[in-house]
Amino acid sequence: MIPLMTELTTEQIAQSLIYPYLNHAVKFLQDDYATAADIDNGMRFGCGYPVGPLAYLDSVGAAAVRDALAVRYAETGDNLHKPVELLDRVADEGGSFTAGADAAGAVAPQLKHEIATVGVVGTGTMASGIVQVFAQAGYDVVFVGRSQDKLDGVLGYITKNLDRAISRGKATEDDKQAILGRLTGATERSALAQVDIVVEAIAEDLAIKTELFTDLDAILKPGAILATTTSSLPITQLAETTNRPGDVIGMHFFNPAPVMKLVEIVTTTHTSPEVDDTVKALTARVGKVGVSCGDRAGFIVNALLFPYLNDAIKLAESGVGLGTIDAAIKEQVGFPMGPFELLDVVGNDVSLAIQKELYAEFKEPGLAPAETLEQKVAEGRLGRKSGEGFHTY
Ligand code: CAA
Repeated sequence: MIPLMTELTTEQIAQSLIYPYLNHAVKFLQDDYATAADIDNGMRFGCGYPVGPLAYLDSVGAAAVRDALAVRYAETGDNLHKPVELLDRVADEGGSFTAGADAAGAVAPQLKHEIATVGVVGTGTMASGIVQVFAQAGYDVVFVGRSQDKLDGVLGYITKNLDRAISRGKATEDDKQAILGRLTGATERSALAQVDIVVEAIAEDLAIKTELFTDLDAILKPGAILATTTSSLPITQLAETTNRPGDVIGMHFFNPAPVMKLVEIVTTTHTSPEVDDTVKALTARVGKVGVSCGDRAGFIVNALLFPYLNDAIKLAESGVGLGTIDAAIKEQVGFPMGPFELLDVVGNDVSLAIQKELYAEFKEPGLAPAETLEQKVAEGRLGRKSGEGFHTY
């Protein structure tokens, strides 16, 4: 007999959320969207998971996961629960998803453009974190915002982080002064005329970003790289609004940017190999792990993460407590945060936008945003930033 949702054990809760995520990761490998190493590194360094989905699958066994999903698929008819072909094959024939996945002998990417000064556009949480990452790695950073107040906000964010690092004995007052000394705030985009690369982290709105890209294309010196940290908009379309589509690339950082080690490096069909190499090398120089993927909704990490978060909301709608789900995930699979804790960090508005993009691109009914997520956003319960989301702060 199928247990009532409210009677699920923590193990059953975790499995019901994690197995479709594992299946989805195998689909990425099957589709050749990303390498096994990049899929696993994406989830480890972007979300702080102890192991990536493919290594996890290798450890629990493909057959056990395939069989559990097959039972679930028979109950739900949801395509996302149907074991993908490659999972089925490995389950039947044995083998590993990760053997040889570390691409031994690969040549380290080289800087093909000189990068001395970095520009950042935006003053929100992501932009502030990205400014900190580059300045901490020794780069001079010009950051552009709409008002002095917003620029002060960036300095406040970085100062607070550095003060916390000092109080924990991880940095000194001299480090802090050196990092702050590399920063130049500006309210005019023309201040970016001489930078070697710009990373933009402004509002996730195609019209707003298109206007920015057109303007930056006119302002930046020839050969400067134009990177976006968009998590949900088509980079190809942004590239095509400029006269330098070969210099446009995605550099998708994770929240909080100073802590999470991942950058997804997203190339379009226009991106030049030199720009790709330079951004890979730069990512390594700022102490991050880069993974590569094409310009598709959700890239690697969000496309695997958000359906799982959305499923967690649907599970809560069926009567399982938020705290129970958060605890089950942390206990059973060792994720650093439960799904509702993470949703509140990311922001429900951001999560809803990403989930809508995934649903629009992949058109799977199982990806439709959970009703409660829509409701939270409509009520302004956006998460930590508004004081209340799924939990209250
Ligand atoms: N800014 C800067 N530094 C921060 C920070 C912040 N907001 N929050 C924590 N830190 C630092 C702390 O100072 C501490 O540094 P040290 O180890 O050098 O002392 C370190 O991070 C660990 O912090 P804590 O010990 O206080 O807290 P923790 O152990 O609970 O870790 C966490 C916090 C690193 C955020 C951890 O909970 C985690 O990895 N969570 C998962 C976050 C995640 O999944 N992010 C991805 C979201 S999806 C996304 O970003 C993509 C998108 O497009 C929306």
